[in-house]
Amino acid sequence: MDSVNQAEFWQQRYESGSIQWDMGQVSPPLKAYIDQLPQSAKNQRILVPGAGNAYEVGYLHEQGFTNVILVDFAPAPIEDFSERYPDFPSEHLVCADFFELSPETYQFDWILEQTFFCAITPSRRDEYVQKMAALLKPQGKLIGLLFDKDFGGDGIPFGGSKAEYLKLFAPYFDIDIMETSTNSHPARQGSELFLKLQVK
Ligand SMILES: C[S@@+](CC[C@H](N)C(=O)[O-])C[C@H]1O[C@@H](n2cnc3c(N)ncnc32)[C@H](O)[C@@H]1O
Repeated sequence: MDSVNQAEFWQQRYESGSIQWDMGQVSPPLKAYIDQLPQSAKNQRILVPGAGNAYEVGYLHEQGFTNVILVDFAPAPIEDFSERYPDFPSEHLVCADFFELSPETYQFDWILEQTFFCAITPSRRDEYVQKMAALLKPQGKLIGLLFDKDFGGDGIPFGGSKAEYLKLFAPYFDIDIMETSTNSHPARQGSELFLKLQVK
């Protein structure tokens, strides 16, 4: 199995501080999305998989979202998060493999994608899409950002293109939005697509 599919690979990266993907702040397009949600969304069940240091989870919590589940299979960032947010419900911190989450146990109104897809071996992309669809309630949404960029290497981050993503997601999702993000972090300007997909 590729090392990126194993928790130890990521745990080591967190332990050694080799976390170049970490923006140290909530992603601006996701903050903007969260900010325009109505008050009625605050108790929606939300999943943030591969959350890492989970700035988006922290932001949702600060804004009064009460039903946010953080999933990561590396314990280090989860421990770090719970130190930063001691009042975040510990039962909403799940140290598990996303691909092992059971749809019988977990069903969400929406799922937030932030630099998780690009951490998954490309050969597992179909599995990723199917798992996302299975974890969503009827009319549930996948919201987030995907890199619209070929990084050239054969390790993380694994990039891709809009054409590829449309083909990948279309069997399971209606594509509401998949457009170049206009308010990305400066380091990612022009290289990420904002997406809003609704499960079929
Ligand atoms: C590139 S990092 C992104 C972290 C965070 N989303 C961010 O933007 O800073 C990918 C994260 O996904 C986690 N991860 C990778 N594969 C996973 C899996 N199968 N199940 C759960 N977490 C996974 C890693 O441990 C890591 O924290």
